[in-house]
Amino acid sequence: MNAHQKIVFSHNPTSRPASAEARAEALKDPGFGKVFTDHMVTIRWALDRGWHDAQIRAREPIALDPAAAVLHYGQEIFEGLKAYNLSDGSIALFRAEQNAQRFNASAERMAMPTIPEAVFMQAVEELVKVDRAWVPKGDGSLYLRPFQFATEAFLGVRPSHEYLFVLIASSVGSYFKGGEKPVTVWLTDRYTRAAEGGTGAAKCGGNYAASLLAQAEAIENGCDQVVFLDAAQHKWVEELGGMNVFFVMDDGSLVTPPLTGTILPGITRDAILTLARAQGRAVREERYSMDQWRADAASGKLKEAFACGTAAVVAAIGKVKSAAGDIVMGDGSVGAVTAALKAQLVGIQRGDVPDPHGWVRRIG
Ligand code: PLP
Ligand code: COI
Repeated sequence: MNAHQKIVFSHNPTSRPASAEARAEALKDPGFGKVFTDHMVTIRWALDRGWHDAQIRAREPIALDPAAAVLHYGQEIFEGLKAYNLSDGSIALFRAEQNAQRFNASAERMAMPTIPEAVFMQAVEELVKVDRAWVPKGDGSLYLRPFQFATEAFLGVRPSHEYLFVLIASSVGSYFKGGEKPVTVWLTDRYTRAAEGGTGAAKCGGNYAASLLAQAEAIENGCDQVVFLDAAQHKWVEELGGMNVFFVMDDGSLVTPPLTGTILPGITRDAILTLARAQGRAVREERYSMDQWRADAASGKLKEAFACGTAAVVAAIGKVKSAAGDIVMGDGSVGAVTAALKAQLVGIQRGDVPDPHGWVRRIG
């Protein structure tokens, strides 16, 4: 199949959709990743058939052979993107084709078959349409989670010959419990996330599994997220467990770690870089060390820091905690540059401010 080829989906809607009352109750305060819609998409792949058996069906447990390769060797990738309910009543996706491309880049890194971008987009659009009642109005959104994993029952270590692509959707509000308040992050000096030549730039489950002990340490220390440093020198700031990171300097310029292959090339990161450049800000994709972070916060050269990602959107970082002492930024409120970039990004995503880059696509 080529990138533009489409596939026919069979529609097998659920016989037990949530009642309007149950849905309304679930959408009141959904939090993140707990409320799921009625349906899912599944598409199978086999070495001798390619992609086939595309279905829109009830969301339900998936039966797997206990020897399925993913359960042993972790061959799995995923994406995260959002659908929004715009003020004019239409539903729109934000840069979804970027997620399709990154999904395939992750697939290649994990020795998996790529999926034609058109099929990825079809899956997303069909699921959003069938579950459109689950797209929250107001501040929330529908978080779409496509993933793909190895299903072949075989214990030899080589790329699987069979895979399942699945797309589920979750009605979400704010990622962080504290809502808009600046978050506190934990600097781990013990664990790293990805090394050169590894899978840091791929969105594979293994990267997140490797981050969980550090994330648990962060939670134990009262923090929301972990900051990872580079694996070679334990010196350079890389990213958070599930977000990219930006620094705002006293001259209004922005610094963010470069894409060297060990961090995820965030789509929100790219959007922020584009918006900041269009505002006339100097933007540098360059290495920034933890020592520099400490020194710049102390001297006042560093004014703000923020995390960004699809789930988190833009979240101010108010404090870094570490074994070597804390770094405090700002006065507990969200900095002006962070707030302005977030407002513009969210405004575009919700169709409330002009979208000069054509990032938002209405799908119904
Ligand atoms: N870094 C990591 C490790 C992530 O999990 C995410 C979230 O997807 C990001 C960065 C931000 O990427 P994006 O803005 O494409 O969601
Ligand atoms: C996303 O933002 O889509 C992610 O995958 C990050 C995760 C922390 C939910």
